[in-house]
Amino acid sequence: MTARKIIIDTDPGQDDAVAILLALASPDEIEVLGITAVAGNVPLPLTQKNARIVCELAGKPQTRVFAGCAAPIARPLVTAEHVHGKTGLDGPQLPDPTMPLQDGHAVDFIIETLRAEPAGSVTLCPLGPLTNIAVALTRAPDIAPRIREIVLMGGAYFEVGNITPAAEFNIYVDPEAADIVFRSGVPLVVMPLDVTHKALTTRPRIEAFRALGTAPGRMVAEWTDFFERFDKEKYGSDGAPLHDPCVIAWLIRPDLFQGRHINVMIETKGDFTLGMTVADWWRVTDRAPNAMFMREIDADGFYRLLTERIGRL
Ligand code: BDR
Ligand code: CA
Repeated sequence: MTARKIIIDTDPGQDDAVAILLALASPDEIEVLGITAVAGNVPLPLTQKNARIVCELAGKPQTRVFAGCAAPIARPLVTAEHVHGKTGLDGPQLPDPTMPLQDGHAVDFIIETLRAEPAGSVTLCPLGPLTNIAVALTRAPDIAPRIREIVLMGGAYFEVGNITPAAEFNIYVDPEAADIVFRSGVPLVVMPLDVTHKALTTRPRIEAFRALGTAPGRMVAEWTDFFERFDKEKYGSDGAPLHDPCVIAWLIRPDLFQGRHINVMIETKGDFTLGMTVADWWRVTDRAPNAMFMREIDADGFYRLLTERIGRL
């Protein structure tokens, strides 16, 4: 199997951080061409810094990290310090990164990489608001047919919303960007809350990370300890969802997930439903399918994969 070339577009975020670790721990399946940071969970200066902290934690300081858009296309930035803490990576204290931030804008890196690599060979993996991806598609429409797939974390149908009653955070923060991506014609695989809310941490799952006895293993355990408080209180659940690693896990083990190829549209105007992913799960319209929208996950298999891979770092 040749490794799939990916660009991770991200706003770390503890769950983004675990996703990055999973990708960097899986070189047989995944080649990370670069990591592009976007404003989301916290502002851009923190997300680009956090991305570099995570690369160093993984022992991969040669990974290229680029800073992208600092604000959504048409709205002020909404952040999520209430979930992730004021640094975005709250929990254990981590040293500032020494690896450099790359020169150049993340959007230029995305465009140039898609033009330079063979058509159909690069997968984009957005784990935050879709600003960088939408700006790239708008500025360089020629890249759309060159993208193999966009595999993203965002949206919800049965679970509806986490930042508003109707909307999931990544889509809500930049609904205009999401609208561009969902109308782009690029094949989409979507990991909504419907999946990630089934990928909950539990005490034994967290302790399995800690028991690895490595710095990345301990860090994953402590990060999840940190943001678990918020979700437990909010949902009354046993643990917290590890949203973003579902994207990377799908690249490695698509058999862990099930969904439907359906039409998904983004609400960009609703007073109460801004950022809603209107998913035609029951196929009641004749709108053409544009996304593989996931609903089920083998959570035990997912955590086994995560623990085994984090253990390789
Ligand atoms: C998404 O929002 C962020 O807080 C997480 O990192 C994840 O990407 C979940 O709604
Ligand atoms: Ca994220």
